Parts: sequence; structure tokens; C-alpha cells
Amino acid sequence: MDGKHMTIGVLTSGGDAPGMNAAIRAVVRTACGYGHRVVGIRRGFVGLLDEDFIEMDAMSVSDIISRGGTILNTSRCEEFKTLEGQQKAAENCRKHGIDGVVVIGGDGSFRGAEKLCDQGIRTIGVPGTIDLDIACTEYTIGFDTATSTAMEAADKLRDTSGSHERCSIIEVMGRTAGHIALWCSIANGSEYVLLPETFEEADIDRVIEKVNTKRKIGKKHHIIVNAEGIGRTQEFAERIEEGTGIETRFTILGHIQRGGSPTCRDRVYASAMGARAVDLLHQGQTSRVVAYCHGEFTDYSISAAMDMQKTIDHDFDKLLHKLSR
Ligand code: ADP
Ligand code: F6P
Repeated sequence: MDGKHMTIGVLTSGGDAPGMNAAIRAVVRTACGYGHRVVGIRRGFVGLLDEDFIEMDAMSVSDIISRGGTILNTSRCEEFKTLEGQQKAAENCRKHGIDGVVVIGGDGSFRGAEKLCDQGIRTIGVPGTIDLDIACTEYTIGFDTATSTAMEAADKLRDTSGSHERCSIIEVMGRTAGHIALWCSIANGSEYVLLPETFEEADIDRVIEKVNTKRKIGKKHHIIVNAEGIGRTQEFAERIEEGTGIETRFTILGHIQRGGSPTCRDRVYASAMGARAVDLLHQGQTSRVVAYCHGEFTDYSISAAMDMQKTIDHDFDKLLHKLSR
């Protein structure tokens, strides 16, 4: 491999995220611009093991930038977690002349990318997850669209909750992280957010106390946001109804948060990240993760990125408390 005539593989892995298609498009077109060959690897690491490969050219990614999901499909793959699986995947890359792979996914997928690199295949990670739970970057592909979708759904719930003078508790996704919950809570003017990073049982008593206090000063309906990482949303609804005497409904937004046409920001940032991933491979780099920090795109070694710890944005948490008095 001389950097001039590479074959670049691209795959999407883990949960899909709106904007992944924009990243795929950017990978393919940037690579084609350098004169490299591009192979699409279907269904994430499963496709790498099954040799589920397709040739891609600039035209093959026409008309996808506005589409949610991923045209390459995605999956979670247990076999790839084994050394045998990783060796087989690297062997398949060599068999098909693939010198480098762009892995678009979350931190689990990056761990996979690192393992593939250990087997001699150059890899670059692009952060694609609605959860925003990757420590090295302030932006992940899909978070903007997912939070907008959740926000719009919560706005609708506010309408009906207001009409009936009810309390509404809404569960949003995010796996073990509370970023979607916190952003939606601020955007929807909720009264309380339950975050996995800070949750304690006494929070439910605090919710009840707050709802009771707000009712006394004339508030007619109440929005509480709960994170998937805590769960128990139905139980919390029952406890809030019992503690306040106010009719309470719960809604679990679920997978609608993963769908839909990506926002402008998700299309643009995913494009920039996909292009940067190919630039890195073209420069001969490997085992890097593309990131967005302090207003600019950058990259880190995968191992450094995996060692970083992400916490909830405590300033936003304080902001919510200040604004939901
Ligand atoms: P995400 O990438 O969204 O965090 P997962 O954690 O489900 O999603 O990881 C996606 C896939 O990445 C897994 O199904 C597996 O194939 C691969 N993967 C995850 N962790 C590892 C690991 N430690 N070693 C090798 N592959 C891994
Ligand atoms: O990582 C994205 C995500 O949507 C999480 O928010 C959620 O916990 C998980 O994936 C759901 O995964 P599945 O699609 O396998 O149900």
C-alpha cells in the first residue's frame, strides 16, 4: 500500500444514527477523489466476517444524504469480539485487497476497530451514535436529529398533558448516558430530569414535592423526562400519581428517536468527519478516531479516546434547575 492506490472499506456498526449516510457518502466521494477504490461492507462486522462486500463509486452514494438509517445496514456482532473472529475479518480484508477500514459507530465499534488494527488492517473510527456517549468528542452523528425528534414528540405530549391538566413522564433513549434526556429536558421546558449519572431514589420524592409545589402556585400540567438508563418509567408514573393525586401518564419514545431525515448539522458534521477519516487513511495513519472539540474537527488515537471519561454537562444540569423553578 503506497497511499496512492488504496482500497478503503467502510462499514456502519452498532445502533444506526441519522447522518450515517452522509458520512458514508463523504467517505466514498473523498476516497474516489484521491483515486482510491471503495468497498462497502454490509451489516457492520458481520459483513466483514461473511465477506458481504459491495463495490462503491461516487454515483452509488447519490441521493442518500437526506435519508435516515444506513444504506450499508448495521448490526451487533458477538463473533467479532473473539480473537478468531478478528483474525478471520482481517484475513477477509487481505483476501479482498482492503488496506484500510472506516468504522462508523459508537465506542463499542471503536473497540472493534482497534482490534482489527491489531490484526494489521488500518482503521479509522467516525463517531456515529445518537447517545453522545463518546468521551473524546462533543458531537456524535445522529444526536442532533434524535434530540430534535424527541423534542418534537415531547412538545406534542405537552399539548395533551396541558389539555387534561396531567403530569407526563417521558422516557428517552441514551443507553447508560443521560445526554439526550438533559438536552430534551431543557428544550422542552421540563420540570425535572432523571439522569443515570446522578440518579438516586430520593429523586422521585423530589419530583413529587416539586409537582405539588408547582400545582399550588397554579401550574396546570407537568413534564418529567426520564432516561432509558434508569428505566422504571411506568413505576415512576404510578408513584408520582400516588404522591400528587394528579393523573400521570408515561410514554416511552423508543426507536422513533433513531429514525428520520438528518438535521442540517448532522449532514454537515457527518460529511466533514467522513472526509477526514479518508484523509487520515490517505496520509497513512491508523487507529485514530475523528472528533469535534472546541469548535473544530480533530482526531485522537483510539486507545487515548477509549481511556477518556465522559460525564454529564453539569452546567446544563444547573441551567435546567435554574429555569424550571
Ligand atoms: P456501539 O458501537 O454503538 O457502541 P456496540 O457496543 O453494540 O455498539 O458495539 C458494536 C459492535 O462492535 C459489537 O457488536 C461488536 O461486534 C463490536 N465490539 C464491541 N466491543 C468490542 C470489543 N471489545 N472487541 C471487539 N469488538 C467489539
Ligand atoms: O446506542 C443507540 C441506542 O439507540 C441506545 O440509545 C439504545 O439503548 C440502544 O441503541 C437500543 O438498541 P437496539 O436497537 O438494539 O434496541
